[in-house]
Amino acid sequence: MTINKLCCTLAIGVIMCLGFADLIQAQDKLLDEVCLGCICEAISGCNQTSYCADGVCGPFRITWAYWADGGKLILNNESPQSEEAFANCVNDPHCAANTVQNYMNKFGQDCNGDGIVDCYDYASIHKLGGFGCKGELTQQYKTSLDECIKAHSNIDVRIL
Ligand SMILES: *[C@@H]1O[C@H](CO)[C@@H](O)[C@H](O)[C@H]1NC(C)=O
Repeated sequence: MTINKLCCTLAIGVIMCLGFADLIQAQDKLLDEVCLGCICEAISGCNQTSYCADGVCGPFRITWAYWADGGKLILNNESPQSEEAFANCVNDPHCAANTVQNYMNKFGQDCNGDGIVDCYDYASIHKLGGFGCKGELTQQYKTSLDECIKAHSNIDVRIL
C-alpha cells in the first residue's frame, strides 16, 4: 500500500515536472500540473509504459482523433502523416501532456454546469470527448480523480 502510494506519487511527479520543463510548445495552458497529473492517474494509473491497445495509447490513453484535434503534435521532426507519429507522440509524457492542453483549448467548457471550468470539467472532456462531456463517468475514474485532486490541492506548484 505504501509502496503503491509512493509509486503513484512519483508517476504524478513526472507529469507535474513536465509543466516546468516545458515552456516551449506552450500556448495557453489551461490545466495545471496537478490536474494533468490527476487525469493521468485516473485514466491509467499514470502508467508510463509505452503502450497502445484498442486504438488508445500512452499514459493519457489518447486516441488518434483526440491527437488530431490536439494539433497532431510530433516528436523529433517526424511527419504528422507518418504511421508512427501518433503513437510516438502520445506515448511520450511531454508530447501527450501538450496534446491534452491543446485539446482543452479547443473543447474546454463547463460540462457539469457548476458555473466554472475546472479540472473536473477537463477530466470529463478528456474521458468523454469535447462533444460528450456531460455524460456519465465511471465511478472508478471519478473516485480516482477526486482522491488525487484532494491529495495534491494543498501543494502550491507555483512556489516549488
Ligand atoms: C503498465 O502498462 C503495461 C502495459 O499494459 C503493463 O504491462 C504494466 O503492468 C503496467 N504497469 C502498472 C504499474 O500497472
